[in-house]
Amino acid sequence: MAKIAVLGYGVVGSGTVEVFYRNKENLEKKAGEQLDIKYILDVRDFPDSPYADKFVKDFNVILNDPEVSVVSEVIGGIKPAYDFVKSALLAGKSVVTSNKELVAAKGAELLKIAKEKNVNFFFEASVGGGIPIIKPIHTCLEANEIDDIAGILNGTTNFILTKMIRDGMGFDEALKTAQELGYAERNPAADVEGTDACRKICILASLVFGKHVYPESVHTEGITKVTLEDVEYIDSYDAKIKLIGCAKRSEGDKIFIGVFPAVIRNESQLSGVNDVFNAILVRGDATGDVVFYGKGAGKLPTASAVVSDIVSAVKHAGTSRSLTWKDSEQSFVRPFEEFRCANYIRLCADNIKAAKDKAGEIFGDKIEFLSSKKQHDNELAFITDVMTEKETLNACEKLSENAKILGRIRVLDY
Ligand code: HSE
Repeated sequence: MAKIAVLGYGVVGSGTVEVFYRNKENLEKKAGEQLDIKYILDVRDFPDSPYADKFVKDFNVILNDPEVSVVSEVIGGIKPAYDFVKSALLAGKSVVTSNKELVAAKGAELLKIAKEKNVNFFFEASVGGGIPIIKPIHTCLEANEIDDIAGILNGTTNFILTKMIRDGMGFDEALKTAQELGYAERNPAADVEGTDACRKICILASLVFGKHVYPESVHTEGITKVTLEDVEYIDSYDAKIKLIGCAKRSEGDKIFIGVFPAVIRNESQLSGVNDVFNAILVRGDATGDVVFYGKGAGKLPTASAVVSDIVSAVKHAGTSRSLTWKDSEQSFVRPFEEFRCANYIRLCADNIKAAKDKAGEIFGDKIEFLSSKKQHDNELAFITDVMTEKETLNACEKLSENAKILGRIRVLDY
């Protein structure tokens, strides 16, 4: 019998235990042996839980129990999760985790330890909640050269943007609803500032490009500056605003990587992804675009990925089936100022005619002006031609001599 320990009994931890016992019989058939959760680690007491006898507060009880072969870390954050995961791997136990912060910061090191110890380190739940994405990229898409990967990677912000776009709901109310539904991080700043999506695109880029991409090297912006006015103008452009994490291969084996709100045309497969749903578009040289879609956050979808990894770890005990990537230097990531795309710009000016002429002068004749039902007389919105980030910033500075820039959102072509 394989004995499992679950570290953390929060939203994902309790979901993991629930899915495990709900489907235990089937899971055992798939794993080829009997399974049980021996311990649940949490600092809190759960005297009324049906699993009350499994709770422990000291991680060493788990670490020093040779019967435990798989540890499932669903605490989140770096401390104490990193120490727990590292010592479990070093003790020869496989680890599965939903912790994107940990994998994005320490993935290369933990994967190396797992290989050396001939155990598994799986993290399907760290990206896209219940959507299978890590294993499919690692196995089913192995035949492809992947040059581009982009996704809606955060359920909370997608939920908020959907409420703004569909219902004209304010940001705060939408965030509160997402928190009540258990989608948001403990600190929702990680969602709305783009940090959570940044960690996820780092994991995907590390997997696709084979070298660890650290969050510090990723240009990251959240959705806090997106307004209902922007939503209206972009609607008139037959597009939607989505928080996108993307990573593209560039010259000399380098990559561009970033997280930011982006204008996505309605014909894109990503534009119709609403509410808490996530989608990840993988551009393979043989497959073309493949899109993975599903619930990217929430108790049971995330638990589904954790429990699947537990079964895989049991099935592959004694062999290291973990994917790998190398550690890397930051120079692998190209400076974001060289990133090229079109831009949506919204401004206001006392003399709107002069500002419009100036915008035409600065951005050239490919500029496309937008209109909105609620447009103010002193307001202007337009889409520029494709240009580098540096050129765009310089152009905006010139434009600011005659106008106040109220918003700028990059336009992506997925
Ligand atoms: N807060 C995250 C989200 C949870 O909203 O997507 C899943 O990683």
